[in-house]
Amino acid sequence: MPSSPEIFAPGLFAGKAFLVTGAGGGVGGATARLLARLGARLAITDVNAPALQACAGATGAIPLLGDLRDGLACSEIMARAVAGLGRLDGLVNAAGLWVEGDSAAATEADWADCMDVNLKACFFLCSRAIPALAETRGAIVNISSDAGVVGNAGAAIYCASKGGVTTMTKALARELAPKGIRVNALCPSDIASPMLEMQASRYGGDDPAGYFNRLLAHYPQGDAARFLTPEEVAQNVAFLMSPAAAGITGAAVMLDFGLTAGY
Ligand SMILES: NC(=O)c1ccc[n+]([C@@H]2O[C@H](COP(=O)([O-])OP(=O)(O)OC[C@H]3O[C@@H](n4cnc5c(N)ncnc54)[C@H](O)[C@@H]3O)[C@@H](O)[C@H]2O)c1
Repeated sequence: MPSSPEIFAPGLFAGKAFLVTGAGGGVGGATARLLARLGARLAITDVNAPALQACAGATGAIPLLGDLRDGLACSEIMARAVAGLGRLDGLVNAAGLWVEGDSAAATEADWADCMDVNLKACFFLCSRAIPALAETRGAIVNISSDAGVVGNAGAAIYCASKGGVTTMTKALARELAPKGIRVNALCPSDIASPMLEMQASRYGGDDPAGYFNRLLAHYPQGDAARFLTPEEVAQNVAFLMSPAAAGITGAAVMLDFGLTAGY
């Protein structure tokens, strides 16, 4: 894995305040650490209490424990974040849940969990952030996926949720542009994070390495194909939040080594 050099000016986000979801996980955690290092004040949320506390300890963020499947919890978390920070310049929706398996065997619980975390919570956090973001002319980055733009055999529910995130992001970008709020979707390919480890152990049978190799076989880099690091994804979030991205809204930014570019 390559190291992640600091490519941003120190203090880039001084005076700014962000809410990051999924901060107990790979991408949310790396994003929170990077934004904090660049001077931002943070509120962070996750359903995993120890992981949330660890990230809060590393970043000085306000920890907000909650289960985002509950729409009311989303509203409360946003209200507490804005009250605690005093303003909101950005929202990063990085919480997410992977579900895979034969569609013939899918359950309503699989559908509900995946949709509620990946799509419903993402929407209602965006929705409830609008008044505060309108005051700062802030920005939203929703972590979608390559699976939010192309189909992934065995992951129809996850693809449905992320496809929703991608097009919902575009709709919100158009709706909120008059308020000065930018909304973008970042669409990463596979990331070396706890989610990917879980995928391999839960769905890889007795051959997790084989599971990883089957994923890597889809990339155009051949033997050099690799997974993203959470830190690389975080750098792209920071870019989309930065003034350098002032002209970018409604984009589905592909961070996928060309995985979805064609064949
Ligand atoms: N890992 C990948 O290969 C990959 C690829 C493309 C996109 N993504 C997306 O990137 C985002 C970040 O994923 P990651 O790789 O960091 O995964 P991760 O599992 O490391 O982190 C996800 C976090 O979301 C939290 N979460 C799950 N359900 C929740 C709930 N009900 N309420 C509150 N929090 C909840 C988890 O506790 C976890 O800390 C997700 O949206 C994911 O779908 C991941």
